[in-house]
Amino acid sequence: MWEGKKVVVGVTGSIAAFKACELVSRLTQAGAEVHVVLTRAATNLVAPATFRELSRHPVCVDLFAELAGRPVAHVSLAEAADVVVVAPATANVLGKVAAGVADDFLTTTIIATRAPVLFAPAMNVRMWQNPVVQANVERLKGVGYHFVGPATGWLACGETGEGRLAPVEEILTAAGRLLKAADLAGRRVLITAGPTREPLDPVRFISNRSSGRMGYALAEAARRRGAEVELVSGPVALAPPPGVRVTQVETAGEMRQATLELAAAADAVVLAAAVADYRPAEPAPHKLKRTADEAVVRLVANPDIAREVGSARRPGQVLVGFAAETEDLLRNAEAKRRAKGLDLIVANLVGMAGSGFDAETNSVIILGPEGPVAELEQRPKSEVAERIWDAVVERWTGGENLGRAT
Ligand code: CTP
Repeated sequence: MWEGKKVVVGVTGSIAAFKACELVSRLTQAGAEVHVVLTRAATNLVAPATFRELSRHPVCVDLFAELAGRPVAHVSLAEAADVVVVAPATANVLGKVAAGVADDFLTTTIIATRAPVLFAPAMNVRMWQNPVVQANVERLKGVGYHFVGPATGWLACGETGEGRLAPVEEILTAAGRLLKAADLAGRRVLITAGPTREPLDPVRFISNRSSGRMGYALAEAARRRGAEVELVSGPVALAPPPGVRVTQVETAGEMRQATLELAAAADAVVLAAAVADYRPAEPAPHKLKRTADEAVVRLVANPDIAREVGSARRPGQVLVGFAAETEDLLRNAEAKRRAKGLDLIVANLVGMAGSGFDAETNSVIILGPEGPVAELEQRPKSEVAERIWDAVVERWTGGENLGRAT
């Protein structure tokens, strides 16, 4: 993945600067062409010669110094970069970029580049938690800069807390993901998300705890990787991801209609919605009155949208479902995958903290016809989303399995 890729590694004046040596070494060993840019403060912590040897390229510090005979080095480096990784990133560099300040080689490169930029912050916990720093991070995220970490643990200042540089392995994974930015370009994908609401009367309904976060994370990741994204969403409290077409629905019936219409033109369909299995047989036209000590509501089964999409599949289409289970995860999930005619199923153990409904993180196993293809434990839903798209891309590029869910 890194072979021949041009990576700019920015190193700023945090005590974690020495960890950038391993990052540069790992990238170089993986075949990347690494250009290290140091701030003046960083040169007090690690000598430029170390990075020059590790990267086998000249190291940039001065804005006006020439690089390999090219006069406007910061601009040419910014243009050539496939990805820019700032590790460690201090509060200072985040503040400068957030304010549009370009007063040295590194900030000038970051501001001039069109390549994705990944910040790996490292600083004292109170500096990290300072509302001004947090506001800068939010501002940077809001305009498309990427972040990894910081991690929590022992800090060089002697305190413990959030502020440690993310592990090098995580920085490499996050940067690698940015490189893959366009692997869904030209693909049309459809995602269902959130709960459905099944009316009892005009003011009451049956629903579930789905927050829609998993589906929205899938939509956001697919958009960032270049797909044209359709999102069919039940009622949730989330803002639609930018650049995604959203069809808002309430009931399973509405979700079915919208999904079947859009699925016909989709290259991949991911069914992340928590569709209510049943609906009240006769929703009351007027608000139900309290008339007796007991009330009985007759429920009828809703259509299984996944199964219908599965039976209408067209060649080359990749279908992904979710299986929320409280027991016997793999067996139940595999049975659902087959019964619904899906290529992949994301088996999801629910009913415990840090996984499933209404949680920030998720613990899942992605199952294909050949068995598990990935296992993620208590990972942010954004990361689970990326892995699901990786698995979809693998199905497309795997060739012989296309359109043949077994
Ligand atoms: N699903 C669907 N339409 C339904 C029910 C489920 O499209 N009416 C989809 C979900 O979006 C998910 C998958 O099917 O991708 C599995 O849903 P789940 O509720 O776990 O499975 P069920 O088939 O409803 O089985 P059960 O509730 O009996 O476990």
